[in-house]
Amino acid sequence: MATALVRADLYRETKGSGAMRQMSIHEGRRMEPASVPQRIEALRWDDIAGALDERGWAVAGPLLTPPECEDLVATYGELARFRSRVVMERHGFGRGEYQYFDYPLPDLVAELRRALYPPLAGVANGWNAALKTDAEFPPQLDRYLARCHAAGQKRPTPLLLKYGADDFNCLHRDLYGPLVFPLQATILLSEPGRDFAGGEFLLVEQRPRAQSRAEVVPLARGEAVIFAVHHRPARGTRGVYRVAMRHGVSRIRSGNRYALGIIFHDAA
Ligand SMILES: [Fe+2]
Repeated sequence: MATALVRADLYRETKGSGAMRQMSIHEGRRMEPASVPQRIEALRWDDIAGALDERGWAVAGPLLTPPECEDLVATYGELARFRSRVVMERHGFGRGEYQYFDYPLPDLVAELRRALYPPLAGVANGWNAALKTDAEFPPQLDRYLARCHAAGQKRPTPLLLKYGADDFNCLHRDLYGPLVFPLQATILLSEPGRDFAGGEFLLVEQRPRAQSRAEVVPLARGEAVIFAVHHRPARGTRGVYRVAMRHGVSRIRSGNRYALGIIFHDAA
């Protein structure tokens, strides 16, 4: 039976039991969150792929419910979940901190990573073809991770980022070894305007022999921005060329901003 999805495809109608705090009433119907694969399947992938091809980034979702965002934020204090913590100021990366999850990833994070990968591998393989590179990404995440692990990139890269007032993230690229899956996602876990002010997601692209161009990507809580890790193909008068891309976060003016980063290649 087809399941009716509403509210940006986050919820579906239910007759059975479920976690009460996850329940929602919509137009008199009892709703529960759709599964993560259902939510991701329900996205308009043609539009997302078109935006990624056109400009190297796309907004998708919301992919997470407010309680799921809250649960992930609460995870930040569960130190056993993480393999390492980075205080950005110590490395000149900006101000704020982040922690890389250890394996096994929390179910929600693992599901998001597994379900987002296949459609993005399709986009990435289109980029490989456009850039005439030999690489081809397998259709499933498990096979891609096996490739990373065989090459010595074994440490998980999904992470939680935590920013307070005056924190920021310098423009950067998330590279962790020679193997790079060219797209990644960041999901905003805090509510803009209520939990924090400022702290905009930033993308800057650097075209050959041209000045850099910046984009500010407004996100709602639970929404994802999917974007190029290090470069994307662009079409010019003399064929396809590479546009270098970096991303960061502008200064948080007040409050706290949490985000979940989903990177598909593992780290050396
Ligand atoms: Fe990053």
